[in-house]
Amino acid sequence: SKLKMFVDDLPVVPKILGFDVVSGVPKSKALKIGMFEKKWKFHRDLPPTPVFAYGVSKDAATVPGPTIEALHGIDTYVTWHNHLPKKHILPWDPTIPTATPADKKGIPTVVHLHGGIDEPESDGNANSWFTAGFKARGTTWTKKKYHYPNQQHPGNLWYHDHAMGLTRVNLLAGLIGAYVIRHHDVEAPLGLPQGDEFDRPLVVFDRSFRTDGSLYMNSTGNNPSIHPQWQPEYFGDAIVVNGKAWPRMTVRRRKYRFRIINASNARFFRFFFTNGLGFIHVGSDSAYLNKPVMTNAILLGPSEIADVVVDFSKSKNGIAILANDAPYPYPSGDPVNEANSKVLKFIILRRHEVDTWRVPKKLMEYPHPNLSGASFTRYIAMYEYTSDIDEPTHLYLNGKPYEAPATETPKVGATEVWNIINLTEDNHPLHIHLGLFVVLDQTELVNKDQFTSCMTKINDAIKCQISKYARGKKIEVPAYEKGWKNVFKMRPGVVTRILVRFSYIHSNASYPFDATSEPGFVYHCHILDHEDNAMMRPLKFSS
Ligand code: C2O
Ligand code: CU
Repeated sequence: SKLKMFVDDLPVVPKILGFDVVSGVPKSKALKIGMFEKKWKFHRDLPPTPVFAYGVSKDAATVPGPTIEALHGIDTYVTWHNHLPKKHILPWDPTIPTATPADKKGIPTVVHLHGGIDEPESDGNANSWFTAGFKARGTTWTKKKYHYPNQQHPGNLWYHDHAMGLTRVNLLAGLIGAYVIRHHDVEAPLGLPQGDEFDRPLVVFDRSFRTDGSLYMNSTGNNPSIHPQWQPEYFGDAIVVNGKAWPRMTVRRRKYRFRIINASNARFFRFFFTNGLGFIHVGSDSAYLNKPVMTNAILLGPSEIADVVVDFSKSKNGIAILANDAPYPYPSGDPVNEANSKVLKFIILRRHEVDTWRVPKKLMEYPHPNLSGASFTRYIAMYEYTSDIDEPTHLYLNGKPYEAPATETPKVGATEVWNIINLTEDNHPLHIHLGLFVVLDQTELVNKDQFTSCMTKINDAIKCQISKYARGKKIEVPAYEKGWKNVFKMRPGVVTRILVRFSYIHSNASYPFDATSEPGFVYHCHILDHEDNAMMRPLKFSS
């Protein structure tokens, strides 16, 4: 039975303020947010779906969870409480490195604020997991109350689970939410659309459902003798926005701001409007661009965020469907079908309005990359490991499992150049915790097979003479991706050079915490099925 599209209204995601206002002055706030098992209605004609949801109470819990709104410079504290049952609602695989409570009971969870510049103890390290009531705890668990100082530049973050080996199933179950840092003094003068009606997060992901409403995830792996359940990528055939499958939204003939988060496990979206309407890109991931960029399509890998203004007054007709044409897996997989090529339908009211919002010519003056300040150059190689039936068994970064001692140990405050060498067939969205980076260039590898065979033998990009191979075609970085990012799509067969900055982009202040403390940070591929098995490495700072 096929679900009808565009029959549910786009839900308004509840909002929680990460600050108090006392006699007109904003003050820090401590929140308690729980994780609950409950049922969620994803579509008018679908029975309620068992999910895991964030919320201040079970009744208030939603998928996605409440949007947390924080203020620049005002601390937000969150105690994340796990109220989940003993057993998971989705199949998982103990043969990959997985958080496992000693008594095998309870669901390990830990929350990471993606894009946050936060102390290691509050960063949601994969081994800092805990079960209901903090009964069982991972090896690097340190505290209950997480601290988000919000001293970074304003922008879009999101919070999600990060437990070792369970990230793909915990997010699939619903443990996802948006987090916005606002900085009134620098943002208000921009004049961009504001307020709950005109400024909205769109949390987009793909899911498959059984006819009884439950989430469907394949429980047999491609290499069942090696990994009984793990599969290299999860793809669902319904596209869900803010908790409803293919919703609709009635809009006025004026500008709206949408903060679009790709919260899928593995699906890339290339968004466009069926009526030719464009996007005015104002921010990418957590940071504003220096100036707005007009585009007709946006390619968004898992965990990337596009902050855009859409001007519906420019529409010639009354309907604009937000659509998707990205193959899956990206870039060389299947073409989209009727179901996963549609996202959200906008019904545009006829009446013309006076629009007070604008998009200024200049947004934020963040520093341009300064190569002369870079103190270190690293090479990060991505390979795939396949079984004798030619199915991937796992993915590592630099040929190392997560547990191998940290090899990326930058100095606090450093700027570094990272060369990411993708020797696989897939595009991998690489995410670095704490740091922000600018993409310098993308260069195709020549004689890739020769280079790969050297790398698989000695695993050293310099000794394998990377410079001899990294001299193919240069690929232009799209204008809307030239700002400061925390995730970027690493193309197959390409060396992507990035400039990573482990300090603020908006000021010279140093971090209000010790970045060298345990358990440190991580960097990883944000295709969650890859991250879990185990395309993730520690990132430890030295002083
Ligand atoms: Cu969005 Cu380490 O994750
Ligand atoms: Cu990957």
